[in-house]
Amino acid sequence: MWRLFPQKNKYVQEEAEFHFDPAGNIPKHVAIIMDGNGRWAQNRRLPRIAGHQEGMETVKTVTKHASKIGIKVLTLYAFSTENWKRPTEEVNFLMQLPVDFFDKFVPELIKENVKVHVMGYTEFLPAHTQDAVKRAIEQTKNNTGMVLNFALNYGSRAELVTATQAIVKKAQAEGVAAETIDESMIADHLMTGFLPVDLRDPELLIRTSGEERISNFLLWQIAYSELFFTDALWPDFNGELLEMAVASFQNRNRRFGGLNLPVADEHQVTE
Ligand code: IPE
Ligand code: IPE
Ligand code: MG
Repeated sequence: MWRLFPQKNKYVQEEAEFHFDPAGNIPKHVAIIMDGNGRWAQNRRLPRIAGHQEGMETVKTVTKHASKIGIKVLTLYAFSTENWKRPTEEVNFLMQLPVDFFDKFVPELIKENVKVHVMGYTEFLPAHTQDAVKRAIEQTKNNTGMVLNFALNYGSRAELVTATQAIVKKAQAEGVAAETIDESMIADHLMTGFLPVDLRDPELLIRTSGEERISNFLLWQIAYSELFFTDALWPDFNGELLEMAVASFQNRNRRFGGLNLPVADEHQVTE
C-alpha cells in the first residue's frame, strides 16, 4: 500500500522505496482529478475561491512539468456537470478562471509547444468562458507537443448518453446492424475520440485531496488505468508529486487480465 506524506514530500512502501526514472516508462496519457481547492482555502481561513485561484497556479506548474517529463496527453478535470450545484458566486468564479488562465498562460503554452483542447458540454458555459477557450485552442492549434486537455462541464455518464444517441441516430439513418456496434465505435464517439487511438485511455489517473472516488470522470476510458490517490490538496500538488505518481506507475505490474510475470521475475528471464 502506497502512502504519501505531503509535508515530507516522500512516499514509502513498507521497506522499499521507488524512485522516478526519467528514462523509464512514462505514461503517455495522465488524467488528474484536481480536488481539494476548497479545503486548502478553508485550512487558511480563506474563502473557497482563494483555493481555486491557487489551484490555477498548480495547473501551470504541473502542465510545464508534465510536458518536460514527456507525457503526451494531460487531461485535467476542471469542472464537472455536477459542479453547477455549487453556490452561484463560486460557479461564477470558476467560469472566470479559464479567461484569466489562458490570457496569462497562452504565451508560455506556445513556448512549451503545448496544444490546448477542451472536452465537455462547452455550449452551456458563459459566453466569455467559451470565447477564452476557443481563443486558446486557436492560438495553440499549430503546437505539436503535449496536449493539455481540460474537462470543462464534463460528465462521463452524460458523455456515454451523447455517444449512444449519436450511434443510434447513425444506425437509423444508415441502417447499421446492432451487431456492428463494437468497442471501437463507442470509443470513437466519446469526447476522447479526437485523440489517436493509442492515446485515448489514460494510463495513469491521479486524484488529489485524499478522496478515493471517480466522481463521474472518464468511466469508459479508465477501465485499465492505474489509479494513484494522494492526500495532497490540489494547490499543494507540484512537479515532484507528479513524479512520485509516475514512479508508482513505473513499479506497477499491469496485466490487463493476462498473466504477465512480476517485474522482478521478468528481469531474471531476460538476464
Ligand atoms: C476541486 O476542488 C475544484 C473543483 C471541483 C472545481 P474543490 O472545490 O472540490 O475542493 P474541496 O473538495 O471542496 O476541498
Ligand atoms: C470532482 O471533484 C470534479 C473536479 C475535480 C472538477 P468534486 O469535488 O466535484 O467531487 P466530489 O463532489 O467530491 O465527488
Ligand atoms: Mg472537491
